[in-house]
Amino acid sequence: MVKWLCTVCNIYVYDEETGDPQTSIDKGTKVQDFPDSWRCPVCGATKEKLVPVTQEEYWQKARAYTDFTGKKEEITSILVGVDNPQTVPEFRQEYGKPLGLRGIGQGLTYLANFSALSKYRLKNRLISKHADPVIETTFLGKKISMPVLGAPMSGLSFVSNITEEDFAYNILEGCKVAGTIGYTGNTSRDYEMKHPAIMALKKVNGHGVNIFKPQSQEVLIDLIKQSEEEKAVAVGVDIDGAGSVNFALAGKPVFRKTIDELRELKNATSLPFIVKGVMCVEDALAAAEAGADVIGVSNHGGRVLDSGLGVADVLPGIASVLRDTDNGKRIIITADGGVRTGFDVVKMLALGADFVLVGRPLAREAVSSGVEGVRRILDYLRTDIRIAMIMTSCNTLEDINEGILGKES
Ligand SMILES: Cc1cc2nc3c(=O)[nH]c(=O)nc-3n(C[C@H](O)[C@H](O)[C@H](O)COP(=O)(O)O)c2cc1C
Repeated sequence: MVKWLCTVCNIYVYDEETGDPQTSIDKGTKVQDFPDSWRCPVCGATKEKLVPVTQEEYWQKARAYTDFTGKKEEITSILVGVDNPQTVPEFRQEYGKPLGLRGIGQGLTYLANFSALSKYRLKNRLISKHADPVIETTFLGKKISMPVLGAPMSGLSFVSNITEEDFAYNILEGCKVAGTIGYTGNTSRDYEMKHPAIMALKKVNGHGVNIFKPQSQEVLIDLIKQSEEEKAVAVGVDIDGAGSVNFALAGKPVFRKTIDELRELKNATSLPFIVKGVMCVEDALAAAEAGADVIGVSNHGGRVLDSGLGVADVLPGIASVLRDTDNGKRIIITADGGVRTGFDVVKMLALGADFVLVGRPLAREAVSSGVEGVRRILDYLRTDIRIAMIMTSCNTLEDINEGILGKES
């Protein structure tokens, strides 16, 4: 009887002799005979990711698995991405400790993203001439299949056994295959030669956006130049990375930036420049003054500041002020945080975003199912967007505005 280990989480073990009641696998079942729908209960990987291991390896891992079961629910929620906010308190650790992928501290900002979005509802509007909605659009001169982009994420190598480069590649390539564009994040992990995000960008021939943490100007300008060499679609800084605990712990200082410093970064490159992590009108205006081509309304998915507002709460105010002051330049506005369905995407567009970034649902897939999983999620989103547009009489993305929304009283 063979014993198996999941190569994605490196935690789950399966013994043919005992079967696995928690995934309804009977004693004596070979992995080849698992149903195709089977998923690793720890990380969500498919059965193909299980490999045979020796008795010795099995028992070593089985012990680790047993130690791990106390924390299993939490880690499962991280990787498998149980995104029902109602379940969050069950996973709370001691007060003030980061909740990993679920958001920092008490998780209030993380939750605010969901509650802010859920206050808005779509209004059916059906008596009009039928047309199939046009969902394709253009982002910074590149045609894309929908107004959805892959959010920059990093650090998954700390909670799974994927490398930072492979993770970034899975996001970029998955987005590319789905007809859109992915961003990369900036890991605090040390790297040897080139930054993993830039290596991943190279592998996809520049079809992606690199976002870097607000480190010193010298470090940033060097990274931006490297992205430019790989012909990135755009580069940028997540200004809210100034609160990154991981970077502080890794001894890599991060800073708030002035308008002049942001302008210096913008002027250091011929690529479009993105300022991500804007949550107030003052920062939006300052980023616009610095020359940002894209402003990302985002609270980092609630990962840097607890007790913050939800993105959907601040987006309309920021969008209206930017539109009033950008002198027709139409600075591109992206929004992210708590977007889980195409209906959420349409709500963010109606609230003033031009494009919507999706984070954790893609992270989960990039770790557990790779490029194909990322593509699949994006396809689901696209399907929902189409339905939402048909049901609200929006034939084009331009037709989407606040008029299609109702608010829960
Ligand atoms: C695991 C993880 C890592 C992240 N790393 C980065 C990063 O390196 N740079 C960045 O700008 N944003 C980072 N983010 C924030 C995302 O870009 C995005 O703002 C957020 O995930 C959106 O919320 P959502 O996950 O609810 O869709 C990260 C988010 C997660 C979940």
